[in-house]
Amino acid sequence: MVEYICSRGSSLRLRELLDTTCRLANTLKKYGIHKGDRVAIYMPVTPLAVAAMLACARIGAIHTVVFAGFSAESLAGRIIDSGCKAVITYNQGVRGGRVVELKKTVDEAVKNCPGVKHVFVAQRTDNKVHMDDRDIPLEEEMAKEAPVCAPESMDSEDMLFMLYTSGSTGKPKGIVHTQAGYLLYAAVTHQHVFDYQQGDVFGCVADIGWITGHSYVVYGPLCNGGTSVLFESTPLYPDPGRYWETVQRLKINQFYGAPTAIRLLLKYGDKWVKTYDRSSLKTLGSVGEPINHEAWQWFYRVVGDSRCTLVDTWWQTETGGVCIAPRPSEEGAEVIPAMAMRPFFGIVPALMDENGKVIEGNDVSGALCIAQPWPGLARTIYGDDQRFIDAYFKKYPGYYFTGDGAYRSPEGYYQITGRMDDVINISGHRLGTAEIEDAMDEHPAVPETAVVGYPHEIKGEGAFAFIVLKEDTVQTENVKEELKSIVASKIAKYAVPDHVLLAGSLCRKM
Ligand code: WT7
Repeated sequence: MVEYICSRGSSLRLRELLDTTCRLANTLKKYGIHKGDRVAIYMPVTPLAVAAMLACARIGAIHTVVFAGFSAESLAGRIIDSGCKAVITYNQGVRGGRVVELKKTVDEAVKNCPGVKHVFVAQRTDNKVHMDDRDIPLEEEMAKEAPVCAPESMDSEDMLFMLYTSGSTGKPKGIVHTQAGYLLYAAVTHQHVFDYQQGDVFGCVADIGWITGHSYVVYGPLCNGGTSVLFESTPLYPDPGRYWETVQRLKINQFYGAPTAIRLLLKYGDKWVKTYDRSSLKTLGSVGEPINHEAWQWFYRVVGDSRCTLVDTWWQTETGGVCIAPRPSEEGAEVIPAMAMRPFFGIVPALMDENGKVIEGNDVSGALCIAQPWPGLARTIYGDDQRFIDAYFKKYPGYYFTGDGAYRSPEGYYQITGRMDDVINISGHRLGTAEIEDAMDEHPAVPETAVVGYPHEIKGEGAFAFIVLKEDTVQTENVKEELKSIVASKIAKYAVPDHVLLAGSLCRKM
């Protein structure tokens, strides 16, 4: 049985997914989208969004999924950088019971994107939204098309998709993944890290706007002919039992989520978990940020009834799939709480000291690098090979530098210690502090800003901003609020600093 199951309860067989994908692919072709063209997808996690990704892949177009919580300006920046010809979206979205004006955001974004020739608009709600000449009602057009579309022939090194992620400097970069290597790596890691068996129901609750959604909601499970759950909701809607109700209803075997959600849910107590039958669960997975001991233990003991294996998986947008994780299905393999443990097949980690020398031996810490290429490694940053080299291969020549630090235990196991650069991780969302500073610098009364991450109980990290005001500024509190709304509108709500502190001056490194 091969199917997609949505958290709302409907399911879609692979055959239907193929038909939908082909109709969508034919629609894209009809409107002049061909091999090599870039297409932005601004949709929540739905079967049609998955079909949109696969339709692009089928005709050799390159998708760039933009998380549907990003602002119009963030969306426009990505569309312009990747040179998208089209955007696929919904009239509106529904998240946690609230309506999200997706089409309005796209309209605002494409005002500044002359390269966009068409916006394909699907219907998520019954509400009518304003349609322009360039807008195409997606389902209506798909209904006119045949459910058959021959896949385009591609070279193994042709691009499959790009996905934007933050670095320590500059604008978010379009990380490029290619056809064969990425797909192979997503498939093999999906099978072995989670011990996925034919017939299992795989429940990764990540959004398709992130790499986790690409690799473990869409490409990994599909390559393995698996059943994948599409989770469109939030952990708290309609109540804090949502994940576990979904596990019970869909009989999920592998549950893969983020520590930030686990930390949030454990505050609501065990009863929301215990109300539901979780006997289907075999493997639990954690991703995106370090998992603290309290969250690990609660996830393991309460959610997994101390009988499921829990894998802390370390990887990045750039690595395509999991690179360091325990593989408990292997005989004799142990799992130590809150540790990513062992490199995956073909991954050769190296720890570096400050002088760029490899640190040998165990019970040591250093900058985490990977010494050999592997199939899932990103191939470049879209349009900027030099930036790719500079960001990942320059600091330790001959090695891929991850940006993270790690500790190697006396037994030779790895533990990730956190970022070594100016990247922070808010609720599992990766952000450069410079991005937030750049947004705030737009305020006319604020000549200087500095943003740092600080430990946050639920989010893992939060943003803390220091600002300098022009001398004649009187409405200090207003400025703070204005700064927050600038960040929300320029980046996304999750990037808004929790604290804005007035400083006399900021002494900055040159
Ligand atoms: C950064 C990558 C990988 C998919 C989601 C995030 C941090 C990721 C772990 C983990 C500690 C982790 C790292 C990494 N990170 N997984 N298991 N333990 N830190 O992908 O947005 O590209 O972020 O997330 O700092 O560099 P991403």
